[in-house]
Amino acid sequence: MGFKSKYNIDVDYEVPKKLQWYYAPAFFGFWFVIYLSLVNTQINHLPKPLTHKDEATHPRDFIAQRAEDTLIELTRIGPRVVGSVNNEVTTIQFFRDEVAKVQAVANDRFEIELDVQQATGAYMHWTMVNMYQGIQNVVVRLREKGNTNENYLLINSHYDSVPGSPGAADDGSMVATMLEVMRVIAKTDESMDHPIVFLFNGAEENPLQASHAFITQHKWAKNCKALINLDAAGNGGREVLFQSGPNHPWLMKYYRKVPHPFANTLGEEMFQAGLIPSDTDFRIFRDYGGVPGLDMAYIFNGYVYHTKFDRLNVFPRASFQHTGDNVLALTRALANAPELDDTAAYAEGHNVFYDFLGWFMIFYTQTTSIIINMIVSVVALLAVGISLYFMSARSGCSWNAVLVRFGIIFGIQIVSLALALGLALLVAVFMDGVERSLSWFTQMWLIIGLYLFPIIFGMSLLPALYLEKTKKDPLSLGFRIQLIMHSHCVCLVILMIVLTAVEIRSAYFIMLSVFFDIIALIINLITKWHRKAYWFAIAVTICQILPFTYFTYICTAALKTLIPMQGRSGSSANPEMTIALLMWLFSLMFAGFIVPLIMFFRKTRTIVLCFLAGTILFIIIAVTPAGFPYQAKTSVQRYALIHVHRVLHNADGSTRIDESGIYVYPQDRRYNIAEDEIKAIGETHKVSEFCDEEMFCGMPLYNHRWHKAREYSLWIPISETPAVPSAYPILTLQETTELEGTTQRRFNFSLTGPDHMTIFVNVKNDAKLLNWSFNETLIRENKPPPHFVYFSYGLDNSALEFTIDVEKTTSTFDTPTLEIGIGGHWVHHDIARSQGVSAHLDRFPSYTYVQAWVGTYESWYF
Ligand SMILES: *[C@@H]1O[C@H](CO)[C@@H](O)[C@H](O)[C@H]1NC(C)=O
Ligand SMILES: *[C@@H]1O[C@H](CO)[C@@H](O)[C@H](O)[C@H]1NC(C)=O
Repeated sequence: MGFKSKYNIDVDYEVPKKLQWYYAPAFFGFWFVIYLSLVNTQINHLPKPLTHKDEATHPRDFIAQRAEDTLIELTRIGPRVVGSVNNEVTTIQFFRDEVAKVQAVANDRFEIELDVQQATGAYMHWTMVNMYQGIQNVVVRLREKGNTNENYLLINSHYDSVPGSPGAADDGSMVATMLEVMRVIAKTDESMDHPIVFLFNGAEENPLQASHAFITQHKWAKNCKALINLDAAGNGGREVLFQSGPNHPWLMKYYRKVPHPFANTLGEEMFQAGLIPSDTDFRIFRDYGGVPGLDMAYIFNGYVYHTKFDRLNVFPRASFQHTGDNVLALTRALANAPELDDTAAYAEGHNVFYDFLGWFMIFYTQTTSIIINMIVSVVALLAVGISLYFMSARSGCSWNAVLVRFGIIFGIQIVSLALALGLALLVAVFMDGVERSLSWFTQMWLIIGLYLFPIIFGMSLLPALYLEKTKKDPLSLGFRIQLIMHSHCVCLVILMIVLTAVEIRSAYFIMLSVFFDIIALIINLITKWHRKAYWFAIAVTICQILPFTYFTYICTAALKTLIPMQGRSGSSANPEMTIALLMWLFSLMFAGFIVPLIMFFRKTRTIVLCFLAGTILFIIIAVTPAGFPYQAKTSVQRYALIHVHRVLHNADGSTRIDESGIYVYPQDRRYNIAEDEIKAIGETHKVSEFCDEEMFCGMPLYNHRWHKAREYSLWIPISETPAVPSAYPILTLQETTELEGTTQRRFNFSLTGPDHMTIFVNVKNDAKLLNWSFNETLIRENKPPPHFVYFSYGLDNSALEFTIDVEKTTSTFDTPTLEIGIGGHWVHHDIARSQGVSAHLDRFPSYTYVQAWVGTYESWYF
């Protein structure tokens, strides 16, 4: 086709033959097959686990089966909650035995020293004071005899678990991994420059107390120069490195050498922006010890996280091999890293890092990334410009005419991307509005129809209509389709420049997307395929295979991480929004350059409309029982529940409220789903109904998150008083002393009770808090009361003494000065729970998981 133009060159006129429509399904099938064969297999790929039999032939290697055996022993102890005999006595003995076994097989060149730390302290955890007394750490130092190097490598995991959970993955698996790493290193005859401190910490779930105790108080804390932190927010799969540094790019140099890399800057940025409802010891080591390090965790199968289903039987042995190989390699490398001797000298900027399908790692510094992003932007804009120039030269359209068309298509593209986002958000709002959110919680594939389809529809509708309207355009169909891609490329370049300017390192995603598009364009320009409609499409398709694979791989990993988290990230936000936004962002990258190719098929409009029809079909599926979010045992709905006796005292000692009830704290968006069952317990009230009258709602809030969730939490008065396993908390005002004249006074209290208590402090009348014996941050920062103190103890159950200094300038101390509320929580006492709340627990549907305990709440004026 074509004719000689006045420039005497071939002009591709409108290509009349679009491809037959029935090639379209094959085209989509092609991408789907790539996804299934490459992404879906690699994302779950685990190495073959080594067994006892392999030990003789693999003397330097991590033996997964050994780690598994250790985990069997550890989980046999049962839940390991701070303050319980399991955690404070049995597990400590377990470590003494395990370390003795390592000592027995250790090479002569090493010495292994075990220290059990007991510590008391406090720190600020978000808005609450987090105070601990007599909690424990098992600390093991492995070093070469005679080695006097004082710079240690620290490896941390925690052996405590949440109440009711065997804590197999979280974090028993990492404890077992560390013990096996210790054994393999200790028994091989290889030199090691730096001593290694293995910290098995006994209070992470409580939250993060033991790491604080170690890094602020332990004798070896100051020696620890680098950290490997091992935790779990899921069960099994591949552990991901999601935080590094900060500001220590050299760490990545060592991580890059691990056999099974899985790491991403995106994870780090999301985590540090607070988008992940979790926290790890990594933050404590960083903030209180300035120790740089690597933070790794299991993230897949987060459904069982912090439930009784976090069991050994769902944890694959191959996961041990994956993590063990990595941690062992990393430990060997870091224990010989010269950087440990002077880490400050190597502190410079952040890293951009990512793996490709777990095959290899790419990393460079943020500064490099800015340069790369800028070069790619400039080259992309240049290439687009050159392409436009050739279009004008080839088509006989004037330069201006091409520019005008590009301008129109660019406008269409921007509107299309906005439309795609708008449609996805519309679905999100709709699904939440009809109370059918989380339909994909178990059925992840629903996301394809609910979100990917409307996004593709939104991206392709206007371009399809435009191309139909401009059938007779002198600029060929192939060129106009290229203009759509160029528009998308320019949109991405703008986005990349903005993200780079605000120092978002994840801008590298956009860079990669643009990079591969430009490769295709450059190939097209060089080969002159860009003149021929189908040929350039082939170059684009081939060049999109890598980025498509990569972006869908990360997108799947992000979904597999975030979906289970939506089951515990609170009731206030619409989780559909998160998924809609995530799908849109990734679609920009994995579908943005593929969608325009749809326009080559006949019946384009019908094909595009199929995506709309698909969306509607999936919405229908999602609102029917097929879209029911939960499944018993494997993907449960989470509740916390306390059977409480609460007594609020007046100033004269009489009681204002004295009642028992059930406090229900739902953890996800479908807080109404079990409404009927919950109402069968008794008359339900929103907790927020009580918050105007009483300090912290007059309720046994367990931590600061409970206060945030008051609007969605329920209080159900019932007649039975809980049978608590030991005495109620006793708060005694020991003495008051005058400080400065008659206006300032010190109140001196002592408190006894169960191992988990909350202390609420408020001032009355015109009293002002001057100081207290808890962590001073809230006072120093002049935060308005009431204040929340979370207190727990491990081995040391002696009374907690605390003082509060107050000032009253206009009233006297005859009127109430302080209001103090004490919550008592028996979180790990199974027997009491079965007597107290089991009848009510039985009313919850089978797809729920209820973490339940008994408690008390009392408040007094002083
Ligand atoms: C609080 O009172 C107890 C008992 O009277 C006393 O031993 C302790 O020193 C007092 N503490 C302070 C900080 O005044
Ligand atoms: C507040 O109390 C703490 C401990 O009771 C004490 O160490 C600190 O010096 C006091 N701060 C002020 C400003 O008085």
